[in-house]
Amino acid sequence: MAIPSRQESFQLLWQHNVPDNVIRHSIVVSRVAAEVAAELDKKGKKVNLRLLDSSAILHDIGKLQPEHEKAGFNLLVKHGYREVAEVILTHPLHYILDRKNRPKTIEQKILHYADKRVMHHKVVPVKERLADLRKRYPQYKEKITRAEPLVLKLEAELYEDVKHKGK
Ligand SMILES: [Fe+2]
Repeated sequence: MAIPSRQESFQLLWQHNVPDNVIRHSIVVSRVAAEVAAELDKKGKKVNLRLLDSSAILHDIGKLQPEHEKAGFNLLVKHGYREVAEVILTHPLHYILDRKNRPKTIEQKILHYADKRVMHHKVVPVKERLADLRKRYPQYKEKITRAEPLVLKLEAELYEDVKHKGK
């Protein structure tokens, strides 16, 4: 499995002209993802930490293009990073509403959740992040509202894993 190092990941972001504010957001997402993963890891849930970190740094690499997760997926596959491409593919909110394509692997789930905890570059509760999304994308208001309980369920699932494995 080819996983770019942190330095290689940043180089990819620069090479593809990802704006600084998106890079800052991604660094904070990687920090939240690492915290969730470290807890799960301690309790014996296997997480590929390098894959998760690189995916968090790169998740918005396609941000300047429409359907940015698909643009990012294709770009990462082209660079030879298929596993990273697969982790980032399900990070946008609407994937959680899609039974067939929702986040399934633990790395996909952690990235999806961590992204919903970071508003710009600030760590906030899920509800606050989604309220901000509703304001920024009023055309998707109804979808965002439908997705909210599913993100909270994912949060509970990740934290449940931590609790149960500890007993
Ligand atoms: Fe994104």
